[in-house]
Amino acid sequence: MSKTEFNTVSLIRKKREGETLSREEIQYLIRAYTDDRIPDYQMSAFLMASFLNGLDTSEAAALTHSMLHSGIVVDLSHVEGIKVDKHSTGGVGDKLSLILAPVVAACGVPVPMISGRGLGHTGGTLDKLESIPGFTVDVTLDRYKEILEKQNLVLVGQTEEIAPADKRLYALRDVTATVESIPLIAGSIMSKKLAEGIDALVLDVKFGSGAFMTKHEDAVKLAETLVGIGEEFGKQTIAFLTNMEQPLGNAIGNWLEVKESIDCLKGGGPDDVMEITHLLAGTMIYLGRKAGSIEEGIEKSKEAIRDGSAFQKWIDIVEEQGGDSSVIKTPESYPAAAHIEEVAAHGSGYITKMDAFAMGMVSVELGAGRRAKEDSVDAAAGFILHKKIGDRVNKGETFATIHTNKEEMLESAINGLQRAITLDNKPPEKLQQITHMVDKTGLHKYGA
Ligand code: URA
Repeated sequence: MSKTEFNTVSLIRKKREGETLSREEIQYLIRAYTDDRIPDYQMSAFLMASFLNGLDTSEAAALTHSMLHSGIVVDLSHVEGIKVDKHSTGGVGDKLSLILAPVVAACGVPVPMISGRGLGHTGGTLDKLESIPGFTVDVTLDRYKEILEKQNLVLVGQTEEIAPADKRLYALRDVTATVESIPLIAGSIMSKKLAEGIDALVLDVKFGSGAFMTKHEDAVKLAETLVGIGEEFGKQTIAFLTNMEQPLGNAIGNWLEVKESIDCLKGGGPDDVMEITHLLAGTMIYLGRKAGSIEEGIEKSKEAIRDGSAFQKWIDIVEEQGGDSSVIKTPESYPAAAHIEEVAAHGSGYITKMDAFAMGMVSVELGAGRRAKEDSVDAAAGFILHKKIGDRVNKGETFATIHTNKEEMLESAINGLQRAITLDNKPPEKLQQITHMVDKTGLHKYGA
């Protein structure tokens, strides 16, 4: 690796003028920042210049490479098979990892999954897993490898050794208004995913009111950048563009989502959740070479739920990671929130829109997410939606049920959910759950 010293101010100026930085120049910036040789104010200026002028594919790949090698790249060669993970760009009610990870592992594909916590209005897999009493997501790298070898599945959080440069840069981006940049997001996501030891990756890139990329065209660009980086690093990568115009499924909140995912693993669950779950799981099974096509992978995914092997895998991994499987076997035994309150529709008509961002913020207020980094989350908090876009409601009819331990938040949460739905006399057009697929050959209309 190059040890060349560059002039930091010249590099910032170069990016400010919209020029392209070389791989060595980017490597210098990331390495020097991680080693405390570049102060936050200079890195902030570089990030803003990159945010405003963009980074091209070669720069995004160099950024990913530098962040990836700021820490350990886990070697999983002791585990047989093609290791495949899934990453979602985040949404409201997105509990798909909890369902598809045991499904794919049960189909014989090893799934090393390193997940994150809730961010802003979106939920995080780690917070959901930790709502299961005793479940631990903090393990050493040796234990991570051991669990994967034994269970064909591991569900943990990012360790200090994984892409430490991203951790520092992400914290800086968070306070310098430079998060929402496609190449910076792509580099951040891919450096962490490539570090966990995968061979292939499936990406769920969301668009709509509850996604980080609300515009479809931005989500497409992000998907293309992510796939481009994955392929550049020699990992087969497939992305799907999926709809986040309304929360996914009916349950929003950590334990409520675990409970819904148990229903899904037992053969029930909402259709929108299962349509995307089977597609992503089927693609993972295909990439893991346990199916000859995505369609065959989808059939295997459905069969793993029908024959009970996915649910058994879920119980096994919960027990392996210290969780109490009795709440998985009998979810009714889980302690409910102190206040359970119905939310009535403020008018009559078809639900034509749901503001998923506003609904995500309501779940945060109820205790399901964090307002500050150090906040703890309330496992039982959240809400259940009984109606979704396209359904009809009558004035006064219950369309949601709130669960919270914060009595003082009830009134504003009820108002917030009522305001988040739009009613009309005419039914809306059916939402398309999955619009496109992106692979190394480019963008394809889904289902075409
Ligand atoms: N998630 C990440 O991991 N990184 C980003 O930059 C944004 C979302």
